[in-house]
Amino acid sequence: MIQNNKNLIWHAHPITQKEREKLHGHRSIVLWFTGFSGSGKSTIAGSLEKKLYQMGINSYLLDGDNLRHGLCHDLSFSLHDRKENIRRIGEVAKLMIDAGLIVLTSLISPYHEERKMVRNLIGSESFVEIFIDTPLDICEKRDPKGLYKKARSGALTNFTGIDSEYQAPLKPDIHLDGEKKITVLTNEVLHFLKMRNIIQD
Ligand code: ADX
Repeated sequence: MIQNNKNLIWHAHPITQKEREKLHGHRSIVLWFTGFSGSGKSTIAGSLEKKLYQMGINSYLLDGDNLRHGLCHDLSFSLHDRKENIRRIGEVAKLMIDAGLIVLTSLISPYHEERKMVRNLIGSESFVEIFIDTPLDICEKRDPKGLYKKARSGALTNFTGIDSEYQAPLKPDIHLDGEKKITVLTNEVLHFLKMRNIIQD
């Protein structure tokens, strides 16, 4: 049961996001990767995180597949549960931003409305939407987990791109061509972060 929170009062703590950013030497933001299953979200996010690590930047990758083993293990792929999945991970990302990190999220996050909800939750200045634009037929050919095959055979339902909708971002902050090399795409995001003064060289 959801409790009424009128008796809960926010406690402001002395160390702020600004102070943590100063300590880390870079801004804290979320890089929200969206795209089909198999589009390359986790691979690019992982490659980028490796680069950031080598540069001494504090980051954390929230991977949809992995979070569904723990925090979100009770959620299905229904419309309602996908929304809840995005909401939870958005809230975790928000906390991690407050902790001064560069947060990378790798979730299909198929709907405009939920991505907009997270942008509002986090604040537009700290939210970077990255669309990995890999056509469905390429993702299906890659099929790294064999899930497209299962979905086509009917053994898996509600699968994004097959019998569940993916609403491609109309105006992403970064639009990546998912057929390019991972190193090229990683550098495109790094370039964006430097241009926006989120990280320094
Ligand atoms: S989201 O739609 O709620 O954002 P999320 O990114 O957490 O999805 O999980 C997607 C991953 O779960 C896919 O990469 C795939 O490995 C796996 N998966 C299992 N069932 C489905 C399904 N019905 N639709 C999409 N992905 C699925």
